[in-house]
Amino acid sequence: MSSNNGIVSITDSVFWIGENDRETDKFEGLWSLPHGVVYNSYLLRGEKNILIDTVKSPFSGDFMRKISFLLEGRPLDYVIVNHMEPDHSGSLCAIRGFYPDVKIVGNAKTAEMLKNFFRIEDNVVTVGEGTAVDFGSRKFVFALVPMVHWPESMVAYDASDKILFSSDVFGGFGATEGGIFDDQTDMSLVESEMMRYYVNIVGRFSAPALKALAKVRTLDIDMICPAHGPIWRQDPDHVISLYEKWSRQETDGGVVVAYGTMYGNTKVASDAIANALAERGVSRVSVYDMVRSDLSEVATDIWGSAGLILASCTYNMELFPPMARLLRHLENKNMKGRYVGLCGTYSWSEASMRELSAFVDRSNGGWNLVEPKILIKSAPAPADFEHCGLLASNMAEAIKYK
Ligand code: FEO
Repeated sequence: MSSNNGIVSITDSVFWIGENDRETDKFEGLWSLPHGVVYNSYLLRGEKNILIDTVKSPFSGDFMRKISFLLEGRPLDYVIVNHMEPDHSGSLCAIRGFYPDVKIVGNAKTAEMLKNFFRIEDNVVTVGEGTAVDFGSRKFVFALVPMVHWPESMVAYDASDKILFSSDVFGGFGATEGGIFDDQTDMSLVESEMMRYYVNIVGRFSAPALKALAKVRTLDIDMICPAHGPIWRQDPDHVISLYEKWSRQETDGGVVVAYGTMYGNTKVASDAIANALAERGVSRVSVYDMVRSDLSEVATDIWGSAGLILASCTYNMELFPPMARLLRHLENKNMKGRYVGLCGTYSWSEASMRELSAFVDRSNGGWNLVEPKILIKSAPAPADFEHCGLLASNMAEAIKYK
């Protein structure tokens, strides 16, 4: 099989027919895609022809071309729907238009979503946890992985070829850059875009992700074919280990300083804290201006860091809006076991510190407060800079063994 028509052979009978998206600016309308994203789909030819997941609807035309090219007039017998989010289910109606007798394989929650999204109620085959199905000579076993990423999410294990079709599990941002396999791609970019995907898309569901990963560990896997990102044929264990690390919320040490400022006074204090952290031996310090920084990148850096400094001015008697947005996002992710220092600036209302403190209190110990809280009136005074140094010392000590 030639690979110059957008189709890539994975084995003699398994083909990648994914579509690259370099046009969407924001994944889910929220998350930046500087390197695009790929929607992976796989066609398995044989006694029964099986499609695993589809692609986002704007790409249906080219997607259908690939399927009809591979099937050469033969029927499509089954579509396994591992996940109903429309980046994967968006071409189901096009599939049913071309292949009206195709059977859709999903679980009970998939069936409900098929009805709600597309009014599809017929030709649906329901599977559950551990269900084994022979599709002709090919044997599949299904495992439910609820909340990774939606309640209906599941993975399909092809026991014949020892391939795990893992849906969003082991996914990442980033379109393909020619190669579709792990041994053909720049791993540094793949891993950073994978972590950004994990933190912002899956991170809130890290506890269910750990349960899903425990199930994956019981399988004899030669290859992992996820719904986004590269296919892992050289080192599938590597991607499993990465996802385990992120799901356990293990950090690489270091401190992120995130600040919001109108006229620069909060920035001056933030830089003072960052300088002091470096002077006290913290080797990995990142500083972000939240007015200009990409929220998904900041959140990813925070996920991988042991400490966080939040510094914000007050705006209209509330926390500065870009900082409020950051806190909402962090709270949604249920981060645990990290250290946080606070710096609030104000001129007549102490709202910034009040709201920063409330964020720490609401975390129920997820964020461990490092003293002192630094409250700065209008612009940092000499005593405030001393407090910046003290906070940096205490933070460096707190994260020493993280
Ligand atoms: Fe890639 Fe949750 O969809």
